[in-house]
Amino acid sequence: MLISIDSAVPNREIRGIRGIRETRGPRLGRALSLLANMVIFPICSSSAWSAYFAVPAVANRASRSSVSHTTIVLWLASAMFISKAGDVFSAESAARSTEREKPRYETREQHDRDGIGKFYMGREISHVMGHLGADWLERPEREEEEQPNLLVKLLKLKPGDAAADIGAGTGYFTRRMAKEVGAAGTIYAVDIQEEMLDLLAKKMAELEITNFKLVLGTENDPKLPPDTLDLVLLVDVYHEFEFPFEMLDAICRSLKTGGRVAFVEYRLEDPSVPIKRLHKMSEAQVKKEAASLPLEWIETIRDLPRQHVIVFRKTKDEN
Ligand SMILES: C[S@@+](CC[C@H](N)C(=O)[O-])C[C@H]1O[C@@H](n2cnc3c(N)ncnc32)[C@H](O)[C@@H]1O
Repeated sequence: MLISIDSAVPNREIRGIRGIRETRGPRLGRALSLLANMVIFPICSSSAWSAYFAVPAVANRASRSSVSHTTIVLWLASAMFISKAGDVFSAESAARSTEREKPRYETREQHDRDGIGKFYMGREISHVMGHLGADWLERPEREEEEQPNLLVKLLKLKPGDAAADIGAGTGYFTRRMAKEVGAAGTIYAVDIQEEMLDLLAKKMAELEITNFKLVLGTENDPKLPPDTLDLVLLVDVYHEFEFPFEMLDAICRSLKTGGRVAFVEYRLEDPSVPIKRLHKMSEAQVKKEAASLPLEWIETIRDLPRQHVIVFRKTKDEN
């Protein structure tokens, strides 16, 4: 039942596409600037100057008066506007490219025992929950503590949607999502532990659920097909990603434009939530980490007892 999306979408091919995207923005900006500086400016300037100054020498008064002061000012202003827009576009795209290239992670010797000593934007990344803890994910009291059915309703999935449950574990949410999208929809259940996917597949077989695909991801790549998903769900997993930037980047590529990603994390802001610090995340930190990707915050849902659901929409990727 384990599918290899790798064969359909070779990783190298995705990197190739990204290579082109990374340079497109700055190039377009530079092209706009060049267009303004090398073509529009000279044409406007020369026609403006010749109309204003040279024409009297070679033509009659009627042709001189056909080019008014206003026309000249408008020509020059539009050329300057295009030039400026090109510069701004170029600068923004270059900043995003730089963001992709700069060293992102820091390792510290002194760190929390629940973390791996690797930090991203000031936050220590936690250990991955091992498959031996799978029973904890299926504990009966979880229904009351986390209200999983309410959470899935809040996601507003539609019949026929394609969605992914990344860090699916035993499939506690995969099976609930599969019900929402119906037979015409698909849920991609992604995990890096094969043992978790085995448990998930067993449970799905017992429940006779078939509208899902198992995907064995890696620490930096969920191995999902590009431009396919309406929603990516991340329950209690983002804080465990060893490569959060690379994972989010890949998630963005797998989403359709306008598709959503929902981070479900235990609320760090709420001291009454009885979970270890590194397994909680604040809304501000999630927003900070999402900001370097083509994601626009839509809403933060606070209806659950212990977690917040921070939802972003994929904007058109300018890079
Ligand atoms: C705490 S469990 C949560 C499981 C499930 N979301 C739930 O709430 O029941 C986190 C899961 O994420 C998986 N995981 C960690 N890093 C991952 C990554 N980079 N890609 C996919 N899965 C990952 C772990 O193997 C583990 O099964």
